[in-house]
Amino acid sequence: MKMWSGRFSQGPDAEFEQWQRSFPFDRVLLPYEVAASKAHAAALAKAGVLNDDELATTLFALEQIGREALPAVDDPAIEDVHHYVETRLVELVGEVGWKLHTGRSRNEQIATDLRLYVRDQIDAVIRLLVAFAGEFVKRAETAGINAMPAYTHLQRAEPVLVAHWLLAYVEMFVRDVDRLSDCRKRLNVSPLGSGAVAGTILPLDRATIAQELDFAAPTANSMDATSDRDFAIEFVQALSVVALHLSRWAEEFILFSTTEFGFVKLPEEFSTGSSAMPQKKNPDALELIRGKSGKVFANATALFIGVKGLPLAYNKDLQETQQPVFAAAQQVFSMLLVATGFMAKVEFNYDRMQQAASCGFMNAQAAAAYLVHQGVPFRRAHELIGKAVRLCVKQGCELEQLSKGDYARCGIDAGEQFFNALTLSEVLAIHNVPGGTAALRVREALQTAKEKLSLYSGVAHACT
Ligand code: ARG
Repeated sequence: MKMWSGRFSQGPDAEFEQWQRSFPFDRVLLPYEVAASKAHAAALAKAGVLNDDELATTLFALEQIGREALPAVDDPAIEDVHHYVETRLVELVGEVGWKLHTGRSRNEQIATDLRLYVRDQIDAVIRLLVAFAGEFVKRAETAGINAMPAYTHLQRAEPVLVAHWLLAYVEMFVRDVDRLSDCRKRLNVSPLGSGAVAGTILPLDRATIAQELDFAAPTANSMDATSDRDFAIEFVQALSVVALHLSRWAEEFILFSTTEFGFVKLPEEFSTGSSAMPQKKNPDALELIRGKSGKVFANATALFIGVKGLPLAYNKDLQETQQPVFAAAQQVFSMLLVATGFMAKVEFNYDRMQQAASCGFMNAQAAAAYLVHQGVPFRRAHELIGKAVRLCVKQGCELEQLSKGDYARCGIDAGEQFFNALTLSEVLAIHNVPGGTAALRVREALQTAKEKLSLYSGVAHACT
């Protein structure tokens, strides 16, 4: 039976009728529609609309609807997931099933289902992010004191510990977790009882309904509650940042896996070959992560554009906000699964990294810093070491290979301690501030990262 046929003297255009349906995609909301319907049924009983028997029958049937498989073949008569549950309920329990829609509207239902869906997805994505970041932490632990070049402008800049580099990614993913938790806090309110726009027509106990669905409280304004999609926008924006981080990570690993860099050995499990060139091992997993990230950003944009022109309150345009949310969640979920598998298997070529960290004048700043400690003003020290680098370029050598005489010609009094300051271990040690790459600082950072992650692991919804 149609949900709204009474007022109409004729049925809708067949093409339009099919075109406006959302059941082909909102069927993923079934568990949430069932949970919300159960909470509503209980409130109806409390308000005297359902007697004890009717409530028991309704709850029993709703449980069954939640358990049973959705129809394999799409039923074109079903408009949306709300219609499906009502129709199925009436099939199971008969006339009493028609009572469930008393005092509620699909406008509040979809707002509720979508919040419940996003809340679950946030918990799932947080779990995956924690696992993914955990792989970086494991690698940072085993990387020990191995070093590698850090780049600015993609030119060799200063050496860092490999662990320091890996922990940079952990910071990004921890922020992603924070962002998602924050979004979860704001979305965790219950629209049920908002009715179509002005609030339900029955004295429903909104606080108890909210509690039953693990919401922190009922929403404060029925017009806002039935038309707000901020939570969906925030969620997909937060996912976009996750995708962005994954894309940057993928890009860097692609680069580092090239023969030119040779820092990263691609795991065969996550690479493919070429049908033409027998020697090829291609970083497809990383490339697809980089490529798919764009689709997540597109979903965020679709949501923004979909909502920006809507006057209060519910408008059918809002139906179009569902698919970008589902698509972004599924996309990021699968990207994280692949990324985690990749990280667990990827190998680092420490020799190559260490070798690259030991050349390319990456000790120049440390050399200047040494002169500063001798009382030379930094600008002057910079100039002097710059001259020494120029000489090295001419002679095809590194700073530590210049002779005392060479340095004297550059105006530098280079003693044993000066040369000691140029060694890789000293250059690393000089960055001895919180957040710097000195071994002790990296050990501290590793510990902090582990603590942050253990705070989140297993307690994805500690933030309610
Ligand atoms: N399927 C609809 C949606 O997703 C449910 C709400 C319909 N409300 C209405 N007033 N037609 O938005």
